[in-house]
Order: sequence, then C-alpha cells, then structure tokens
Amino acid sequence: MNKWNEMYKAKLASAEEIVKNINAGEICASTCALGEPIGLVDALAERAKREKLEGITHHLLLTLRNNQYLSPEVSSRLKHVAWFTSGYARKAVQEGYADFMPCYYYEAPKLWREFVEADVFYATVSPMDKQGWFSFGVSVSNARAQMLRAKKVYLEVNKYMPRTHGRGFVHISEVDAIYENDVPLIEMMEAPITEKDEIVGNYIAELIPNEATIQLGIGGIPNAVAKALRNKRDLGIHSEMFTEGMVDLIESGIVTNRKKNVNPYKTIAGFAAGTRRMYDFLHDNPGVEFHPIDYVNDVNVIASHDNFISINATLEVDLLGQVCSESIGSKQFSGTGGQVDFVRGAGVSKGGKSFITTYSTAKNDSITKIKPTLAEGSHVTCAKNDVDYIVTEYGVARLKGKTASQRATALINIAHPNFREELTHEAKKMHLIP
Ligand code: COA
Repeated sequence: MNKWNEMYKAKLASAEEIVKNINAGEICASTCALGEPIGLVDALAERAKREKLEGITHHLLLTLRNNQYLSPEVSSRLKHVAWFTSGYARKAVQEGYADFMPCYYYEAPKLWREFVEADVFYATVSPMDKQGWFSFGVSVSNARAQMLRAKKVYLEVNKYMPRTHGRGFVHISEVDAIYENDVPLIEMMEAPITEKDEIVGNYIAELIPNEATIQLGIGGIPNAVAKALRNKRDLGIHSEMFTEGMVDLIESGIVTNRKKNVNPYKTIAGFAAGTRRMYDFLHDNPGVEFHPIDYVNDVNVIASHDNFISINATLEVDLLGQVCSESIGSKQFSGTGGQVDFVRGAGVSKGGKSFITTYSTAKNDSITKIKPTLAEGSHVTCAKNDVDYIVTEYGVARLKGKTASQRATALINIAHPNFREELTHEAKKMHLIP
C-alpha cells in the first residue's frame, strides 16, 4: 500500500464521527451546489437537534436540495448563509431563518481569505488518485480559498462526482478526515424552452459573431440562446457556470475553442450543474477545465478575450437601464452571482457585448418588467453605466452610448405593448423624454 493510501485509510471515518468534532457556534463553509457534502450536513443537522447545539452556521453558494437547515426548527441550531439563494433556500432567506451574503462572485475567495472566518471546510469530492489528489469535480468555485481559511477539513468522497481537469484539487495531506458516501449527484433538468425564449434567443444569436467566446448564465432564456447558436462556428466558452446546453454546443462542433485568444482549445468554467449525461461528459475530459472563481470571473481575464459575449437574465429593468436580477422588491430571490463580473468584463473586451434578457412581463402579462423606477426595495445588480444590451421578446435595446432620454425611448420600445403608453407617460413626468 502506498503512503497516500495508508493516510487515506487512517483518516476514514463515519459521518457521525466527523460531525462530533463540530461545536456550537462554529462556522462551516462548503463550496457551491453539488460540492455540498450532503451526508455530513445531514449528520450535522441530526447532531445539532439531538444535542441541542446552538449557533452553527453553514455557508454555501446555491444549495440544490431541501436541507433540514432550511426549516425554522433547525435553523436556530444550524443556520444557512446563502451566498446565492437557490429556489430551495428562497423561502428561508425571505422569512429570515436563513441569512444571505451580498457579494460579487469573483470576490468570494477574497472574502474568505480576508473577511470571513471558517472553523470547518467540508466538500464532496471525487475519489483519490494514486498521487493522493481528490478533485472538487463540478464545484471548484471558491473551494480552495475556503479550505485554506478553515481550521479543519473534511471530505465526503463520492464516486459519482466527476474528476475534472483544471485547478480544483485537494491533497490527502491537507485533509483531517474522510467520509465515503457514494450517492448519485442531484440532477438539474432544464426548463422547456418557450416560444418567447426562442424569440429572445434568436435576437441574441444574430448579434453573436463566429469565433466569439461566450458565457451563459442561469435561467430559461440563456438556455434558449445556446440552442439558437446552431449556425455558428468556432465559438469558445469561458463561463462561471457550465450548462447542459454547452454539452450540445461542444458535441455538435459549434464550440471548438480554437479561436480563443486566452486558453485556446479549452472550455473554462467555475462550476456545473445539470444531468448525469453532463457529469459523464465532464469526467476526465481535458477539453473542459474548472478553475477557481477569482480567475474565471476576474474582470481582467474576461476582458482579455476578444469578442467576449455575456448572456444573463434579469427580473426588472428601469428606464435608465438599472437592472435588478436578484430580488423582487425587497425580497431576496437569487443573488448577484457573476452577472456584474461578466457584464463588466464583456464591456471592456475588444468587440465584447453583454446581453441582459427578460420577458417583457410577469404573472400572465399583469406586471411590466420594464419600469419607470425599480420596485421599492429592489437590490440593484448591474448599474446603469455597466449595462449594454437589454433584450425582450419585443426586441433589442442597446444602451451603451445612449443618453437618458434615448435609453428610456429604446426601453419603452421593447416593453410589452400594453404598458408602453403608461411608461411613456411616466417617462415624461420624470422629464426623461419630452
Ligand atoms: N415581478 C414579479 N415577479 C416576477 C418578476 C417581477 N419583476 N420577474 C420575474 N418574476 C417571477 C416570474 O413570473 C417567475 O414566477 P413563476 O415561477 O411563478 O413563473 C419567477 O419570478 C422567476 O422568473 P424567471 O424570469 O422565470 O426567472 P429565471 O428562472 O429565468 O431566472 C434570474 C432569472 C434573473 C432570477 C436568474 O437569471 C438570476 O438569478 N440571475 C442573477 C445571477 C446571474 O445572472 N448570474 C450570472 C451567471 S450564473
């Protein structure tokens, strides 16, 4: 048995044994989404309830399951701090029994290095290789920054976690204990593409040149854009999130990465969530590299790609082009994620463009999503000066280089026809248009 295998064996433990070392009041940090060590987290919740531990916090970006800590009963003992609020965590955050961390995604590793303490780091990883390395798989994100900050490091080894290429590894010598838990990874199915998604996708596809490097965000419309790119050639990918649609783009030969002036021949991402088909595609695939998020989302790295195209969705836009993508009024809905990072990076890239997409209305056409001013309490995600294109099913408004008055006019023109008169009236009252 080699040295690393011996070390591995010596560090093996059950989930219950590991969580016995986590004390009341401690701060636990986990990397994003599928990196959440669900066996350890469940064992911790059970222990916290059983032994009435108080004040443990569990920091995570994007939980993908209905964890016990999301219930009011458990949250006083084990409280979630969401660095990006998922659909599962939304109610808990909105009702105050989970907390959230405002941040740009690119700066999450720096926040861990310089601002937030951690007692424990835990994560799901792929099995160890002969040299003693585990891969953070599809959740490289801010894993190493959190790990280096923590006093104790626990890994949950799962054979279903793909071993990915790039810079997301942890060595057995850096770890305090290991728990083996082979459970199929959670799968995230894509929402079916609607007629409106297709229209928006086609508008954007027309504005993407061949050989561009793209980033696709979270939500229905970015998925439709991936489908609308079927007639492009030699695209590249540099994206915080690797999406299911990207597997199709690579397998069909539309994405080759060969014209990228940064990381040519490589798709670069920070994390992924999708179906088993995607996880199998990513396993030991040297064409896709996962890197820490302070590299992937670094504005300077994004900006150094020529023709960088960023596509993200939003919830509301005002007539100056301020964008709210993370709250509905004052209610936290998701998070800033990397939206600002990519909008800014694409803005600096030579030939770059950023697209922010939205349907023109919500709730059966009863609410306009283009508004004179953002709803009271909204959290501004992208500032007006950063925003480039806004796209709805009624067209495309390019805001860069437009005056306040031109912006208001362009945005009213892509609002739902039922609201254009009212928006025009409000814009006049605000002296935005004559
Ligand atoms: N007022 C009231 N309700 C609204 C609304 C508004 N202005 N805008 C949307 N809604 C409702 C919708 O009707 C929908 O409700 P339903 O679920 O009952 O149908 C729900 O809110 C979600 O809206 P939708 O437009 O379908 O969201 P999405 O799943 O496409 O996600 C974002 C859109 C903006 C939430 C998502 O892209 C996001 O979190 N972005 C920020 C982070 C980011 O872009 N990161 C970058 C890369 S990953």
